Amino acid sequence: MQIRKSLESTDQAAALELDNVSLSYDNGPNVLTNLNLSLPSGSFHFLTGASGAGKTSLLKLLYLAQRPTHGSVRLFGTNVTAAARRALPAIRRKVGVVFQDFRLLDHLSAFDNVALPLRVSNAPESEIKSNVSELLSWVGLDKYMDAKPETLSGGQKQRVAIARAVVNRPRLILADEPTGNVDDAIAMRLMQLFIEMNKLGSSIIIATHNEHLVKKFGFNQLAIENHRLSELPPLGTNGERP
Ligand SMILES: Nc1ncnc2c1ncn2[C@@H]1O[C@H](COP(=O)(O)OP(=O)(O)OP(=O)(O)O)[C@@H](O)[C@H]1O
Ligand SMILES: [Mg+2]
Repeated sequence: MQIRKSLESTDQAAALELDNVSLSYDNGPNVLTNLNLSLPSGSFHFLTGASGAGKTSLLKLLYLAQRPTHGSVRLFGTNVTAAARRALPAIRRKVGVVFQDFRLLDHLSAFDNVALPLRVSNAPESEIKSNVSELLSWVGLDKYMDAKPETLSGGQKQRVAIARAVVNRPRLILADEPTGNVDDAIAMRLMQLFIEMNKLGSSIIIATHNEHLVKKFGFNQLAIENHRLSELPPLGTNGERP
């Protein structure tokens, strides 16, 4: 009973909360200053800001590759800044990441790269085969399942990276410029995949420079400007805020 109760309260917790978070690298100036944010489970946001504004830095805080210099980060109700190191891998597995530079494993095929999160969680091979094949087909790579990353184009690698990030239906999906290397038609298809994952319950944050994408899809925006973060309502198709 107690266990069930604590599970429920975790399920209802915000996907992520930032409490007065600041970040500087190597005692340098702040890249991010006093960020406060609470995003409910199941939310969908674009993360915007000029090149160098701190989008990737914020995502690193959220996928636990970076600790804040001040303040705390809470994921799914757990304060990950204060948590014991041994508690972090289990939380980290609930976060799917599309890295700006893909980070595929060179010695593995596209199929095996995408299968990795499922293999880590000991999913049955039959489930792995059907889920990975379906996803790679969805992103238009059914003919490239056996291809090694070095033989793929930038946009094809990006699509493998996206499939890998979503394959185990993580509670939080963080995508850093996930449509930066593909044409508009593929970008729309990839957005559709993120929207489907969101419908299945994942919270999504997509960092992007692509204004066209931000205008086309009516999601809230997290904007970084002058090291500060603000949450903005969706940008309308005419570029105006309602
Ligand atoms: N590991 C690091 N060490 C020192 N400074 C860093 C490091 N990573 C990023 N920075 C600095 O932090 C600032 C924010 O960088 P970040 O990569 O977060 O920006 P971004 O918004 O993702 O940019 P882009 O749109 O070009 O990807 C930049 O001034 C960058 O030089
Ligand atoms: Mg970046």
